[in-house]
Amino acid sequence: MKRLLLSALLLTLMLFNGFAQTTPGTFTLGKKEFLLNGKPFIIRAAELHYPRIPKEYWEHRIQLSKAMGMNTVCIYLFWNIHEQQPGVYDFKGQNDVAEFVRLVQKNGMYCIVRPGPYVCAEWDMGGLPWWLLKKKDIQVRTLKDSYFMERTKMFLTQAAKQLAPYQIQNGGNIIMVQVENEYASFGGEQAYMEATRDAVRAAGFDKAQLFRCDWSSNFNKYTLDGVATTLNFGAGQNIDNQFKSFQEKYPDAPLMCSEYWSGWFDHWGRPHETRSVASFIGSMKDMMDRKISFSLYMAHGGTTFGQWGGANAPPYSAMATSYDYNAPIGEQGNTTDKFFAVRDLLKNYLLPGEKLADIPKPVAEIIAIPKFELKQSAALFDNLPAARKSEKIQPMEDFDQGWGRILYRTTLPASASKKKLIITELHDWATVFINGKQIGKLDRRRGDNTVQLPEIIGDARLDILVEATGRVNYGRAIIDRKGITQKVEVSDGAVFTELKNWLVYNFPVDYKFQSAGKFKPGKITGPGWYKGNFNLSKTGDTFLDVSTWGKGMVWVNGYNMGRFWKIGPQQTLYIPGVWLKKGNNEIIILDVDQPAATTVAGLKEPILDQISPDASLLSRKPGQNLNLSGENPIHIGSFPAGEGWKEVNFEKTFKGRYLCFEALNSQDAKDGLTTLAELELIGADGTTLPRLKWNVLYADSEETTASNSSADKVFDLQETTFWQSQSVGKRPSHPHQIVIDLGEVVTIKGLKYLPRADKKTAGMIKDYRVFLKTDLYKF
Ligand code: GLA
Ligand code: CA
Repeated sequence: MKRLLLSALLLTLMLFNGFAQTTPGTFTLGKKEFLLNGKPFIIRAAELHYPRIPKEYWEHRIQLSKAMGMNTVCIYLFWNIHEQQPGVYDFKGQNDVAEFVRLVQKNGMYCIVRPGPYVCAEWDMGGLPWWLLKKKDIQVRTLKDSYFMERTKMFLTQAAKQLAPYQIQNGGNIIMVQVENEYASFGGEQAYMEATRDAVRAAGFDKAQLFRCDWSSNFNKYTLDGVATTLNFGAGQNIDNQFKSFQEKYPDAPLMCSEYWSGWFDHWGRPHETRSVASFIGSMKDMMDRKISFSLYMAHGGTTFGQWGGANAPPYSAMATSYDYNAPIGEQGNTTDKFFAVRDLLKNYLLPGEKLADIPKPVAEIIAIPKFELKQSAALFDNLPAARKSEKIQPMEDFDQGWGRILYRTTLPASASKKKLIITELHDWATVFINGKQIGKLDRRRGDNTVQLPEIIGDARLDILVEATGRVNYGRAIIDRKGITQKVEVSDGAVFTELKNWLVYNFPVDYKFQSAGKFKPGKITGPGWYKGNFNLSKTGDTFLDVSTWGKGMVWVNGYNMGRFWKIGPQQTLYIPGVWLKKGNNEIIILDVDQPAATTVAGLKEPILDQISPDASLLSRKPGQNLNLSGENPIHIGSFPAGEGWKEVNFEKTFKGRYLCFEALNSQDAKDGLTTLAELELIGADGTTLPRLKWNVLYADSEETTASNSSADKVFDLQETTFWQSQSVGKRPSHPHQIVIDLGEVVTIKGLKYLPRADKKTAGMIKDYRVFLKTDLYKF
């Protein structure tokens, strides 16, 4: 009897305070609920990314998550940090994910593991290793590529070797394992998902409950036997709407929001993303009231150190280094208003006997570092590595380079004088030099690909220095080789001559390479490295102010702190105190543009929200007006009110390249606004057209200051982002128009419109007109 009581006591302790399981247990799907050891269990998970947190701080962030009221930690596995060279696996130190899971268990929490192979996560190539791109015809996330599948299986096997022992059935804390990630927003190949599910099991995750995550709008695209379905959506959503069609299809399934987006990620050059505490907590409460399990993406975003930031496309737009995410736990591991709001909410939903954990003390002090100068420099052109010869231009992967910069050099004949230089395709940002003099800067975000050549007398030396920002991590553009991917031509508009016989210089991102330069006292013009030292009497976290620098990367004591770019929104880089030293510290900055001042300072607060407005990214030139007089719409219609995709079929098919969509009013005529989350065109065969080549030519109005609601948000593949006409200040009146270059002549027989999906309804379109032409509109 005594023994029985004791073990009952032990079990209670284990469940609520002590270790999350040490004896084998079960986690299964019951009727409309999850069952942990046979008892109903509501998952309150905190997503954390171990590479985005210095290892020394892992436990602190886990404890903060627990103090917020969470009982579970959800993690991705990032294939590309663990296998940086094919077949060389690294699960040590900062990559020791098993240690991370053990820390979660030590702190009495369960764990959900999402091993990929693809994870998205605003991470270079969505977690896939760049070296896959060395295979010329590589396809990913499909059974059509046996190499991709083979490498996937090999990685999953290694991942399971690390983590399978911690499945709950083995006495560990892993309750669920995810198969792939949001596959329905990429493809519909059921057989691929089945094979990936089988690979996850065969690798060793053979006991844990499997699940997959998708969206309420697309989870129906495929089914997966034996795998639970969960949905992802963001702050402020209408919970009943989100689960409506899911419950129709799976009336007996437990409900879970596997990614409840607490904020959103930042793009370089675009406003800092925030989501209000009220809207975020509101929908979270709705879930708790309905006993819906959730995982907070992110509970704590952290920092995308090094070269790991990804990008979205279309249009190409790279991720900032900070992954603060406007999450409840700030980038530095600090508590925020959102943190306390979550804690206050969740304390009302604890199980009997369960109590909120105490908030752990900060692990690091915050220090300021007085401004100092980086006194030494090394010009890039004086420090070229050994050159390689290449007849045709090639992307950096072909030279075995994963990330960084690449310089292409060749000779321009005098005949190129005053012609145009055309680059196909530039990934992602370049400066062009003739005989060492800079003649142009190109930015993939704007689709730049042409430079006007000056007068050239005799043979000239052409240098194109390309900086790679993140690899696309989402959607069909994920095959994203870096450098120059196809060709460089000189043209007078009629004749195109491809340039050949290149000398190629590779600039990788590792510290050894940066520190090897011949540093000299003094300043330089143009791209190069700067080096400085600073003394600390005590260490602590700090935010490095890099606001006077152009574009590049920072290394502190050999650690790669990530990218910076003067266009913002972040102007500081988070430097964890554990990577600093008492006494002398070293900083190296590579600037491929030009610093305005070569000083830095450590601040006590981050600057995450300062962009320099860039008129060239706006969808309307000053004074530009669309003139639709004399144009005939191909369709005039009226959308019903309410959320969700709305499909419209035209009476016949139409052909053209330039689409104009015009919102004549909104559902609430008084709001004067237009909001539009996604626009798709239906082709002659009834399927939606790819949108990779789409480009906004014009939008009469867009909100790019108060929020990140530019016109290109109508085809950025994200249902939560939307184009919004200017909403702050004096609102321009209807009609609101967007003109899109579809990139080629297409045939369409209908369209699909997705209104904004948050709880707000302002700007939802009512009456509209559609135009499609093969030639441009009048402006
Ligand atoms: C999706 C993905 C995540 C992340 C979020 C946006 O839900 O599954 O990996 O990219 O979007 O932050
Ligand atoms: Ca969108």
